[in-house]
Amino acid sequence: MTELLEEILEECARYTKEGKLADYIPELTKANPDDFGIFIISGDKRVSKAGDFTKEFTIQSVVKPILLLLALMDNGIECVKNHVGVEATGKPFDAINYSEQKLLSENINPMVNMGAIAMCTLIKGDTYLDKFNRLLELTRLLANNPDIEMDEEVYLSEKRTGNKNRALAYLLKTYGMIKDDVEDVLDCYFRACSIKVSCADLAKIGLTLASHGKSQFTGERIFPAKYAYYVNAILMNCGMYDGSGEFAVKVGVPAKSGVGGGIMAIVPTRMGIGIYSPALDSKGNSIAGIKALEMLSKKLYLSIF
Ligand code: DON
Repeated sequence: MTELLEEILEECARYTKEGKLADYIPELTKANPDDFGIFIISGDKRVSKAGDFTKEFTIQSVVKPILLLLALMDNGIECVKNHVGVEATGKPFDAINYSEQKLLSENINPMVNMGAIAMCTLIKGDTYLDKFNRLLELTRLLANNPDIEMDEEVYLSEKRTGNKNRALAYLLKTYGMIKDDVEDVLDCYFRACSIKVSCADLAKIGLTLASHGKSQFTGERIFPAKYAYYVNAILMNCGMYDGSGEFAVKVGVPAKSGVGGGIMAIVPTRMGIGIYSPALDSKGNSIAGIKALEMLSKKLYLSIF
């Protein structure tokens, strides 16, 4: 298996040259575009890894399924679904997605920025820092890694420059989808995106979702299976934004990308996969990461279809 992964990385490395680092968050331009790593963990905890799998990077949008999980754990499916819809937008992650002068909850989903910002308000906690700390704790639990922390520099960089997200959040506020102070809500969102992870962390979080909420590391049930079905289904439809259909056809498993260069893929009942390669395609997805998953899916028959 290690040999196969090394072969895949070697074959796909050339695609990193066709991608571009995210530069709208200045701190992310410090990444090395040549970094490329993969970590796979299967249900019986067998690990396979290759390349720069120990590198740390910020989770960015890969935190959105964790945000959704916590919102579900705190409020249940009906409440979450009433606040943030489940349909693919077919638009970029930061699109201003409303029409006819009215924003409706069914126009957004938990994987686009607007949906994720709205979900921050659903998490329980006295302050937005409390809400974030609960999210960080859940991330540690899902990854079985108590050492996961936030990257202060990336957080400050995004907080300083994240005016598009501010615009999206003010739109949510205008249409009553956020009640609290916009800057407080955004602070939680920016912190969430700045959680620092490795390929191993993403693979282990993916495995916990693939195992429908039961930790393969402690035997503990972290969340009810019905929430894994909900999150994985939304990832299948919306996890790669307006590239989700193409990804479903070529790879065929639920996955989530982030502009930090990470991809978490979930092969239900079988394995979790974490990939890191920070050069992105025009949709904000890791370009070589997607190619590697395509190859891997064909070799290991991963498609759930
Ligand atoms: O809010 C943003 O724009 C970033 N913190 C996260 C966006 C992201 O990762 C999109 N994913 N591919």
